[in-house]
Order: sequence, then C-alpha cells, then structure tokens
Amino acid sequence: MMSRPVNIGIIGFGTVGTGTARILLQKKRELEERAGFPIILKRIADIDIRRDRGLRLPKGMLVKDYREIVDDPEIQIVVELIGGISPAKEIIVEAIRKGKHVVTANKALLATSGHTIFNAAKRKGVEVGFEASVAGGIPIIKIIRESLVGNNIQSIFGIINGTSNYILTKMTKEGVDFSTALRDAQRLGYAEADPTLDIGGIDSAHKLAILATLAFGIPFSFKKIYTEGITGLSQLDIQFAEELGYTIKLLAISKQKGRDVEMRVHPTMLPSGHILSNVGGVYNAVFIEGDAVGQCLFYGRGAGEMPTGGAVVSDIVDIARDINSGAVGRIRDIGIAGRSDLRIKGMEDILSCYYLRFYAIDKPGVLSKISGILGSFNISIKSVIQKERKKERAVPLVMMTHTARERDVVNALREIKKLSVVTGRPVYIRVEEEGE
Ligand code: HSE
Repeated sequence: MMSRPVNIGIIGFGTVGTGTARILLQKKRELEERAGFPIILKRIADIDIRRDRGLRLPKGMLVKDYREIVDDPEIQIVVELIGGISPAKEIIVEAIRKGKHVVTANKALLATSGHTIFNAAKRKGVEVGFEASVAGGIPIIKIIRESLVGNNIQSIFGIINGTSNYILTKMTKEGVDFSTALRDAQRLGYAEADPTLDIGGIDSAHKLAILATLAFGIPFSFKKIYTEGITGLSQLDIQFAEELGYTIKLLAISKQKGRDVEMRVHPTMLPSGHILSNVGGVYNAVFIEGDAVGQCLFYGRGAGEMPTGGAVVSDIVDIARDINSGAVGRIRDIGIAGRSDLRIKGMEDILSCYYLRFYAIDKPGVLSKISGILGSFNISIKSVIQKERKKERAVPLVMMTHTARERDVVNALREIKKLSVVTGRPVYIRVEEEGE
C-alpha cells in the first residue's frame, strides 16, 4: 500500500460542501491517521466566494471557476456538491473524462442519469462515490452494497426525506399548519433549494430509484416510480389517523415478489406502534427485509451540513484508500448492469389496505349506498367511524378496508363521488398493516 497524499477538490460550497470542508480541514490529522496517508483539500469552487460559511480557509483555496479543480492534474477526487442536473452532469462527465474519481451527493442526477455517469466511470476505470445521495448520515449505500451482499432483499421501506418527515411530525405532534412547518424546515437548512421536490415526494423517489438499483438491480427507474407527496394531507386526516391508532409518514416503498418489483412513494398510514411511526423530525430511517438477515432498521439524520458532509468524507476516504492500495473498482456497482427478468408493477395492481374518508349527508341509507359500491368492487370494510353531526349536514365518514387492489379502490371512489349524498372529493390513504 502506498501512502501518497490524495488531493481533493470540492465543487459547490453550500450546506453539504461546507460540512465536507469543515470535516476535511478540522479532522485532517485524524483522517490521516485513519487512512494512513494525508487527505488534502486543495481547492473549493463556488460562484459565491463572499458569503461567510463560518470556516477559515487558507488563502487561495476558494475559487470561482470549477475548472481550476477539474483541470488540475494534482486533484484526484472531484467532489460535486452543487446539486441539480445541469451543470452538475456536465462537470461530472468532464471530470471522469479527465480520469478523476468522483464523489457526489446528487440524487436527482443519479436517479435520472445514473447510467451515463456509471458507464462513463466504468469505461475510464474511475470510481463514483454516492453515499451522501440517500439518507444523509445513514451509511445505507454501503449497507446494501457491502454489508447485505449475502441477502436477497425482499423489501425496503424508507423515510428518506427529512423535510417531509419534519413537517408531518410537527403537524401531528403540535397541530401546526403545513406552511409554518415548511418554513421551519427551510430555516433549518433541510429543504431542497426547490422545496416542491421534498413535499411533492420527488426527492424520496430520486433516493428510492438509487436504493432499488442497488437492492434489486432495477437500474435507475425514477420515471417509473409512482410518486405522491404530502401537500394534499389535511390536519383532519392526521387527526383521524391518530384516533384510529395510526401515524401518517411519507414512505418510499420497494418490494420484490417473484418477477415483480413495486416502487412507490406516498403518504402511508402505519400502526402507531410500528417502529417507523416513531421516527420523528428530520430523522430518516430505512427498514430492510433480507432473506438472510430478516428485518433490520437503519436510523439517523437524513439531512444537514455535518451528517451529509460526513457521508461525503466516507466516500472520499474509501476512494483514496482504493487509489493508494491499487484497488480502484474494488466494489462493482451491483445493480447498474440491471436484471432483465424483473418488471416494475403498475400502481393500479398493487394490493394494500386503505383509509377512506368521505363527506356525506347524514341521513338514512347513505352508509349502505357507499358500502354497496365498495362491495361491488370487491373491497371489504374493516371498520367505520362516523363523526357526530354538528351544524353542517355533511359529516366526515371514515372507513378502513381490508386488502384491496388499487385499481378497484380508484374506480369505487369515482362511483362514490357521483352520489348526490357525497360532497367534496373522497380521500384515500394507503395503510401498511402488519400481517395483512
Ligand atoms: N431535502 C432533503 C431532505 C435533504 O429533506 O431529506 C437531504 O437529501
């Protein structure tokens, strides 16, 4: 093993870039001791070189032009932390073309262009580290790729968007409204530059595309993921869920059964005693079931400067070790080649239990009309709650179902909406029941 210094350049000096630089600079000595050679942060590039990030940098380290990193022959690892698709993609492709290893936290880019990037890296014989792209400080990429390599993974259930989890937790525990909770998450630096990616479920879908690639060999299928965010959730449904003994979480779900793989992101009601129901605030958790290990849970901070910066540093050190030990390409990016025998199941074919909520006029025969339609679509009702009539004549009517097919539920609700006794849009939330 050689002990030559490895030089690093960071492109993008935002939240994660600052955390990464802070760790590389402040823990320089410890990292050298752990790796066995110096890991040197040579340069940082950002279009904003004025803003104070609370970090003292040596003179000349912070530059405006990313080319001072990509064109520098002494820099072996380029760390892309600007996020978004363009120019991040062009920068990474150029860095790879120049023979640099790349570390990125860019889930949007990998979920949509992972093929291009990993194929280019393979051709050039360089590594791409992406630990920070999913679940911030939880080392979930390493866990799936390395620690669980002896398992056939059967399912992944993830709370993998800290912003949405923060908002849902605040709405559930404090009864605050959606926009107050979102503003708070933005102030704390959890939200994406465009928070619709968080609250629309898209950020979770980006991350799920990466996890499913590794776990099932479904290569970067972001576009095929059914994605529904938390913007349509009301306090009323959060409160009903609580009353019924459930907690609403934005879950990213992927399950494999035979040749079918489910990939979906949506608000999900979980029994309040479920371990994931108790993952609050900005915390993320990934619950995995493998045929050898059984069930396991990985929990930690899914966003923020230091947790995500720490994940970036773990990739930097891994790649630096591979460079010095001549082991570049040590871990093949399992899943990137893809499994052609698997197919992604259409959302209309998934089976789930459901929470249904209607506003219905409180008069004789209404319940039987609604339950008659549900029955005609093979949907079996487990329980019903009707709220007491107050001033208004329409009252909320909540039903929990046994396992039903999504297509049947959607079609039944379309029919129910047409009833003159039903006012407003029926609401449905999928429920994960243990043992159903
Ligand atoms: N916006 C993301 C989240 C940041 O809230 O989880 C980490 O990817």
